[in-house]
Amino acid sequence: EDEAKLVTRPPVVTVMGHVDHGKTSLLDAIRQADVAAGEAGGITQHIGAYSVQTSKGPITFLDTPGHEAFTAMRQRGAQVTDLVVLVVAADDGVMPQTIESIKQAKAAKVTILVAINKIDKPGATPERVMQQLNEYELVPEQWGGTTIMLPVSARTKQGIPELLEYIALQAEVLELKANPEKLAKGVVIEAKLEKGRGPVATVLVQEGTLRTGDALVTGAEYGRVRAMMNERGEQVKAVSPGYPVEVLGLSGVPTAGDEFDVVEDEKAAKEVAEHRAEKARQKELGSVKKATLEDLFAKAK
Ligand code: GTP
Ligand code: NA
Ligand code: MG
Repeated sequence: EDEAKLVTRPPVVTVMGHVDHGKTSLLDAIRQADVAAGEAGGITQHIGAYSVQTSKGPITFLDTPGHEAFTAMRQRGAQVTDLVVLVVAADDGVMPQTIESIKQAKAAKVTILVAINKIDKPGATPERVMQQLNEYELVPEQWGGTTIMLPVSARTKQGIPELLEYIALQAEVLELKANPEKLAKGVVIEAKLEKGRGPVATVLVQEGTLRTGDALVTGAEYGRVRAMMNERGEQVKAVSPGYPVEVLGLSGVPTAGDEFDVVEDEKAAKEVAEHRAEKARQKELGSVKKATLEDLFAKAK
């Protein structure tokens, strides 16, 4: 890697925790947005990606769902991130998806920062939460451990400046750098087919700069980047490492969690995609053939 070309990139912070412990509300408070209020049933059902300009510099946040059905999304969130903010409601305490999130973050070797949320509530017992977390080997700094645990409230915004400060401090320690001068690469965070827009992929750029017109390949899908939108729906022409963006122009809906690469031109992108599609077909054919043979053997017995 050409050291001279490395520049500091924003930290990618995944917010995880049990359902309704206040992940989206906390991000709303940080962003001064109102996403939680608009969610069906008050439940997050996808990964939200937001770049936030804070007094400590830009931070990229990934909001994950806490509902038990969305283990794979949390997994993906834990795997692409620099830091996990584990949200635990101070009145509810450690719950099944809190524990799952701890396991996923640990498996991904990502530092966990704990936000003990809803401390404005009368039933809030942050000390109890700390005791519970202690049992999962998250020992609070206050007790001689290494895990930062901050009391916060998405409602009153108490503790939020401190939370952002600790995120910025951790990011500094990690010395997060990337080369913006290469062809872009990164990971697909989410993808769907949208009426009138075609395949839409939310991607996180991890290296290089992603530009409108770039030829991109991810899994067996490819295309030329027709347009890019930030989380506010504004068109952008170039996206630096550490930032998320919505990409239009792909041939089909890519698989969330897959990597993407920008290549020389659309012809090369198509070739790579078709080669991968062919390999996938061969593999499928192989397993079909094997299954049929096994079937025949079974019948012959
Ligand atoms: P999922 O994404 O569905 O897992 O939920 P979430 O963790 O994003 O929680 P969400 O932000 O949807 O908040 C759940 C409920 O808790 C909502 O009714 C919020 O208004 C409430 N809430 C969140 N934070 C606070 C807080 O700090 N104090 C109080 N009193 N209520 C809060
Ligand atoms: Na919720
Ligand atoms: Mg949510």
